[in-house]
Amino acid sequence: MVFGGTGNVGRRVAERLARAGAAVRATSRRPRTARLPAGVEVVTPELDTSGALDGVEAAFLMWPFHSAEPARPLVDALKRQARRVVFMTGGDARPGVAPELQPTPVARWHATVEHLIEQSGMEWTILSPSTFMANTLWWSEQIKAGDVVRGAYGSLKTVPIHEDDIAAVAVHALAEDGHAGRRYTLTGPEVLTQEEQVRIIGEAIGRPLRWHELTREEERARLLADPGFPDGFVDELLDGYATLIAAPPPAVSTAVLDITGAPATPLSAWAAEHAAGFGGEPR
Ligand SMILES: NC(=O)c1ccc[n+]([C@@H]2O[C@H](COP(=O)([O-])OP(=O)(O)OC[C@H]3O[C@@H](n4cnc5c(N)ncnc54)[C@H](OP(=O)(O)O)[C@@H]3O)[C@@H](O)[C@H]2O)c1
Repeated sequence: MVFGGTGNVGRRVAERLARAGAAVRATSRRPRTARLPAGVEVVTPELDTSGALDGVEAAFLMWPFHSAEPARPLVDALKRQARRVVFMTGGDARPGVAPELQPTPVARWHATVEHLIEQSGMEWTILSPSTFMANTLWWSEQIKAGDVVRGAYGSLKTVPIHEDDIAAVAVHALAEDGHAGRRYTLTGPEVLTQEEQVRIIGEAIGRPLRWHELTREEERARLLADPGFPDGFVDELLDGYATLIAAPPPAVSTAVLDITGAPATPLSAWAAEHAAGFGGEPR
């Protein structure tokens, strides 16, 4: 069972499992437009009431909700059926810290789900990924319109990860023994500032892209005016950036290589793969 089967990571998990010949069910609120591979059974996400968990042995779970409320019935339903669960948590949930002491609402929801899963009796694995390379698509409209990307905190360092590398780890944890009770911090292969990420995308699409620094207030106004960006996430994102820029630089983890045997994908390769999303030629 892949919960969130049309998401950045869930879709890749479902595709990888289907390619490996597993019987796969995946959730979508709109099964008819889910565009999952033939052979993947698409179900709506009311897993605790719909019977969609019948026969499920292992589940990939992510958390798309804006509260932890649905977690208990969902985990209860899951543990009645599944032996194994792999949960992709949110990057800012601090390990070993009680849900109520987590720094942000998003971290509190994720930590609550982690806690329920750890207490569930299922074999659990928690994946804690760094920022997704797909987040760079937030710049796509600016890049389609010109060579300048405007934003705040251009010197912010992250270790962006390809969503497919997270999915590859998830499939190993779903299908193999040896991952129970483990929490994996997953990152891409290189620490990059936001400015460097823009330059790398430019190289992939053959354009001299450059960063233009905005103040936090200018960036806040720009994001609030962007119809494609959820207003409720603007302050949370900027607060997160402000916290991260004041913290020690992030470290590169070798977990993707250690678990899958393949090195984590560099942003240059992700950007070449997604060139069309920035108005470039697909490769
Ligand atoms: N972006 C990052 O940098 C980053 C870093 C670390 C961790 N994370 C974590 O990753 C998670 C997001 O993963 P993602 O980017 O792969 O997901 P995503 O692309 O945002 O996709 C969301 C998935 O959840 C489903 N969904 C949305 N709302 C739902 C609802 N109310 N009920 C049931 N299903 C719902 C969607 O399915 P349908 O629309 O088809 O129903 C879709 O499959 C979050 O927990 C986030 O904290 C993100």
